[in-house]
Amino acid sequence: MPGLTIGDSLPNLQVDTTHGKINLHDYVGDSFTIIFSHPGDFTPVCTTELGAMAAYADKFAQRGVKLLGLSCDDVQSHKEWIKDIEAYNGKKVTYPIAADPNREIIKQLNMVDPDEKDASGQNLPSRALHIVGPDKKIKLSFLYPASTGRNMDEVVRALDSLIKASQHKIATPVNWKEGEPVVIAPSVSNDEARKMFPKGFQTVDLPSNKDYLRFTSV
Ligand code: BEZ
Repeated sequence: MPGLTIGDSLPNLQVDTTHGKINLHDYVGDSFTIIFSHPGDFTPVCTTELGAMAAYADKFAQRGVKLLGLSCDDVQSHKEWIKDIEAYNGKKVTYPIAADPNREIIKQLNMVDPDEKDASGQNLPSRALHIVGPDKKIKLSFLYPASTGRNMDEVVRALDSLIKASQHKIATPVNWKEGEPVVIAPSVSNDEARKMFPKGFQTVDLPSNKDYLRFTSV
């Protein structure tokens, strides 16, 4: 993916939103923050996605995570569309939605879908989603086309992994869910792991006799 990607700093842009003007770095503050774009207001998949974000807002708040939506429609359009989202989903849209009619933000945030254009031939945003850390750096990105709605359970799962990996020297294995064992980061020696993980760890015996697959609980 060219442009903004994992490890890059979030550009510190001023953006117009349904909650007024927002400075991106001030908005992130000390929190993990999800910035997600959608192709356009008053479209079917986007209505289901932003409704799901509203329904999941408590789960994100419990984790101290902030949300910011974004498309190239203007603030007035977002405000009108929010009435539809709330009617469809039955949940209040409590997070801000940013407006980018000039396509400046989506370019800088690597959210342009080259295959999707509006009636006047201008590019539309992809279904991009960046999770930004408290250090204002991109920790994880999803990039979906207009035809494919995202899975909000996967967003929560990935967020839980990121938060846990920011607190301990661990990584999370395939299909991991909160509460399941994690693996110890390869950079941690067995001696360090004994001190670092008071509950101990289990090393999986492998044909290579290398002890890199170590499960623990944190
Ligand atoms: C949708 O949200 O349903 C959508 C938006 C743009 C292109 C295709 C689908």
